[in-house]
Amino acid sequence: MATKAYNLLEGKTGVIFGALDENSIAWHIAEAVYREGGRFVLSNAPVVRRFGTLEALAEKTESIIIWADATSDDDIRSLYAEATERLGRLDFIVHSIGMGLNVRKKKEYEALNYDWYHKTLDISAISLHRIVSHGLALDALAEGGSIVALSYIGAQRTFSKYSEMGDAKALLESIVRSYGYRLGKRRIRINAISQSPTKTTAGSGIEGFDAMYDFAEKLSPLGNADAASCADYTVTLLSDLTRMVTMQTLYHDGGFSSMGISDELVLQLHRLAQQDG
Ligand SMILES: NC(=O)c1ccc[n+]([C@@H]2O[C@H](COP(=O)([O-])OP(=O)(O)OC[C@H]3O[C@@H](n4cnc5c(N)ncnc54)[C@H](O)[C@@H]3O)[C@@H](O)[C@H]2O)c1
Repeated sequence: MATKAYNLLEGKTGVIFGALDENSIAWHIAEAVYREGGRFVLSNAPVVRRFGTLEALAEKTESIIIWADATSDDDIRSLYAEATERLGRLDFIVHSIGMGLNVRKKKEYEALNYDWYHKTLDISAISLHRIVSHGLALDALAEGGSIVALSYIGAQRTFSKYSEMGDAKALLESIVRSYGYRLGKRRIRINAISQSPTKTTAGSGIEGFDAMYDFAEKLSPLGNADAASCADYTVTLLSDLTRMVTMQTLYHDGGFSSMGISDELVLQLHRLAQQDG
């Protein structure tokens, strides 16, 4: 269902990090922000340039692409210099970046490669700190702005296969709170959206993702939230309508986070137990 445009972001400018292909949550966010009148720079790591998919999104949303590794101070500083030259001070930042190196390489939590673990935390969480810090230092962020980072309930609860990424999301959400306090003085707000399992490149890189997806689908009263609805929710957080919301982890998960068990799952578990017995 195509969402109606409400011009909620008219006159606002920003940077959207993390659109890789049309499944990416950030891809949907870029489309929704554009629909609402926002203008932005798209950014992703230089290594994904070779995939050549981001150009299509840039064309569709009248954006430019600035390639930047979110773990590089120099790249982020240069990004701000170019982005503010084109768009002026920025009203919003979307951090939709994640990568679990041990998860991808199927290293169990008990046997993490610590170099990869550091890299996972750097890419998936510390990059948010870096992006905010350089934005402030370079005076690139406008008063009244909004920053959104994508998270997952693995920050609060253990999903065994999510492994190191649970630690990364816990750190990410902590940075949202720690910086939220400091950003408040400039009337800038920052929130994390804790999103349902979503079929994307990052999502599918997790072993057992399909089972996690099905479980969440069955447990959530509204079913799993898809990337397009996440994009609509993100728009509300970037808009002035949510100007007093900050430092929150906001669940966009069809109700999953408030559930214990559903009738459907109880019945299925009961049937399985009977088969086993
Ligand atoms: N897919 C899910 O099930 C799900 C659920 C909840 C939250 N999230 C979060 O949503 C966000 C977006 O992920 P997605 O599911 O759209 O997958 P995705 O793979 O499409 O997006 C992840 C992005 O991170 C980028 N990235 C990786 N390393 C980088 C670096 N060093 N510098 C800059 N960018 C880098 C990738 O190129 C990619 O564009 C992530 O934070 C992810 O953890 C995903």
